[in-house]
Amino acid sequence: MTFVGYLFRQVFVHPSQIPSDTNLEDQTIIITGANSGIGLEAARQCVRMKAKTLILAVRSSCKGEAAKKDILSTNPGSSTQVEIWILDMESFESVLAFGERASALPFLNIAMLNAGVFKFEWTVSESSGIESSLQVNHLSTALLSLLLLPVLRKTSQESGHPARLTITSSEVHMWTPFKEQKAEKILDRLNDKQFFSDSMDRYSVSKLVSLMWIRELASRVPSEAVTINLINPGSVDTGLHRDGNKFIQTFDRVVGRTPEEGGRLLIDAAVVKGENTHGKYLSEAKVTNMSAFVRSKEGEKIQKRLWDETAVMLESHVPQSKLEEMLRNVDTMGD
Ligand SMILES: NC(=O)c1ccc[n+]([C@@H]2O[C@H](COP(=O)([O-])OP(=O)(O)OC[C@H]3O[C@@H](n4cnc5c(N)ncnc54)[C@H](OP(=O)(O)O)[C@@H]3O)[C@@H](O)[C@H]2O)c1
Repeated sequence: MTFVGYLFRQVFVHPSQIPSDTNLEDQTIIITGANSGIGLEAARQCVRMKAKTLILAVRSSCKGEAAKKDILSTNPGSSTQVEIWILDMESFESVLAFGERASALPFLNIAMLNAGVFKFEWTVSESSGIESSLQVNHLSTALLSLLLLPVLRKTSQESGHPARLTITSSEVHMWTPFKEQKAEKILDRLNDKQFFSDSMDRYSVSKLVSLMWIRELASRVPSEAVTINLINPGSVDTGLHRDGNKFIQTFDRVVGRTPEEGGRLLIDAAVVKGENTHGKYLSEAKVTNMSAFVRSKEGEKIQKRLWDETAVMLESHVPQSKLEEMLRNVDTMGD
């Protein structure tokens, strides 16, 4: 994937409209990062498609209320029950509490794990002491994927249709030399301030390790139990680079897709595309190769190492019996 190719797609390839007969009438949906950018626009589209229940997973009730008001103002007379659930992915306690609450849902048809951060400097999550982009983009997303799987699987069994887990990934997973792969413990290296230098590279690596976790997860879970896929929305003009400099913000404005287009790509992956996209990465709404590194023999080995390292890192923050149960669940999904 060359930079020129990327620019060409940004400027000339626009996502198609979601088919007008797409209906989410009986569906319960969770979207993380639903108060802004891609997540907010995907949420708006779920309400337009008459979702039964839409759960906006957000950091504060005030952000959630503002998003809900905005979404409903553009969908007057909507019958969707829009709920606001608090989720702070800088806190494992919050992720665990969110997962606990979600596990009590009678149905969960679709979960879009979309929340993410781009940190322009070394920042640590207060409650865990872990570097924030590693925590939000990878560890909390991974933990959430484990927590939501049982209710998604139960929904697949009871509805007769595979429930969906879609993760907002990024093309930048291809743009890093991933120098941490040489470290004895990759995640520990990422969590060591002395090795942090380039914020763009850090964001890219956080998206890469997250993609590898999801790819490994999908290889362990049958598509009929839960269909799992990843999307690359491309560059989208959102608040992702809100702490960045004028150059990056202007770049987003010039080449970025609109948040509505980003939301449409997320909906395409989570709703329109089928079971045949399980374990796959979608770019411009088409199944596309992940990076050559991810697909290489070495990449496969590192993917397995990252699975184990992620479990080890989560061990310090998640009750051991809970973590063991969740990992066991993954490996018995096909039974
Ligand atoms: N924009 C792009 O060019 C682009 C390209 C490729 C991939 N992506 C990915 O797309 C996803 C959505 O990003 P966006 O572009 O729509 O940017 P955005 O407008 O900044 O949205 C990010 C969302 O994630 C939420 N979030 C961040 N940290 C969180 C935390 N600790 N706990 C819970 N929620 C948290 C934000 O909530 P707050 O408002 O509370 O911060 C916000 O709702 C991200 O995963 C991003 O990596 C974006």
